[in-house]
Amino acid sequence: MESGLIHIPYMRPERTSRETFDWALANAREADKRGFDSMMVAEHATQKWECIPNPELVIAAAAAQTERIKFAPMAHLLPQHHPAGLAIQVGWLSQILEGRYFLGVGAGAYPQSSYVHGIRDADSQSLNEMVREALDIMEKVWKREPFFMEGKYWSAGYPEEVEDGHDDDQHKLADYSPYGGKLDIAVTGLSPNSPSIRFAGERGFKPVSIYSGSSILKTHWETYEKAALENSHVPDRSRYHVSQTVFVAETDKEARKLALEGGIGYCFERYLMPIWERFGMIEGFVKDAGAEMSDVNLEWMCDNVWIVGSPETVVEKMNKLFEFTGGWGTLQVESHDYIDNPTPWFESLELIANEVAPKIALPEKVAAAS
Ligand SMILES: Cc1cc2nc3c(=O)[nH]c(=O)nc-3n(C[C@H](O)[C@H](O)[C@H](O)COP(=O)(O)O)c2cc1C
Repeated sequence: MESGLIHIPYMRPERTSRETFDWALANAREADKRGFDSMMVAEHATQKWECIPNPELVIAAAAAQTERIKFAPMAHLLPQHHPAGLAIQVGWLSQILEGRYFLGVGAGAYPQSSYVHGIRDADSQSLNEMVREALDIMEKVWKREPFFMEGKYWSAGYPEEVEDGHDDDQHKLADYSPYGGKLDIAVTGLSPNSPSIRFAGERGFKPVSIYSGSSILKTHWETYEKAALENSHVPDRSRYHVSQTVFVAETDKEARKLALEGGIGYCFERYLMPIWERFGMIEGFVKDAGAEMSDVNLEWMCDNVWIVGSPETVVEKMNKLFEFTGGWGTLQVESHDYIDNPTPWFESLELIANEVAPKIALPEKVAAAS
């Protein structure tokens, strides 16, 4: 299994933009140094706890301070951008990163952030329709062949390169198509039988889920696999990323204390538990554990939802999940605000990359079927 970080970044509300930016870059440097394979950076125009509005700025800065790790915005919210502008930005950034970039796309989770971009009362169906139209336009722009289209949501085009007859370079158009000619694209999915995950399958894109219970996750893979096969794509579990809350320390006791009393516990108690309840994301875990909603508190989350413990415990917990769900190729660790005590957080990353990830593999029968 590969190890990735997803930097949402769940900052305490009092952090400044500068602190948030510096913490993102520190995570990128440490993840790169300690053996992580990828880092995803989220995009939110309005949320106080999820306060990176422009993942591309973090990625561009981090590119200059890292050597190996791959980066992805996860996700650029396609309804909230002009697709041609975004296509040019993404193509250029992929060229700057010279192969260390892939593109994450999503519809957008928060109506406030859609509202800022002039979208009111949008249902998920119309947001998903916007995602499809935006990607069509982006792919046309990357092709660099002349077109002009007036879509349902946007108009865009690509101009003809006209020879001016002067035998010089002045007429030439810059090439902002993806580095290496092709971009790896990933699509985020949340809900049971996710329409976004179905779209990923239809187009052969990578699926990326937030872990919200084994049964929901199973529906994600089944949805993806069916859509991929119906459209002649190979559903390959090694391309599947699943994000989870993970904390590893030398002992179970230490890991539990650092998770509960550190940035993870702080954020879940004040922000994520209420939000997850609103999005219906706790029910899946309650069902998995055969528990009741009234059982849910921070300690219950630590023992039943987060993956917390010594490397041995975490390997065991992950293997159990893999057995039930079929597994995934990349564990995308959700980052939290450990600014006030960063060492245990970075040590946890080190243990994940070196003591956990190498010991987890896709079950053989699943890998063979992929
Ligand atoms: C791994 C992951 C990352 C996401 N990142 C963002 C993000 O940065 N900003 C945002 O508004 N929504 C984000 N979302 C939510 C998506 O924009 C979208 O609401 C969701 O994928 C819709 O899923 P559904 O089709 O299953 O309902 C993310 C979802 C997942 C699974």
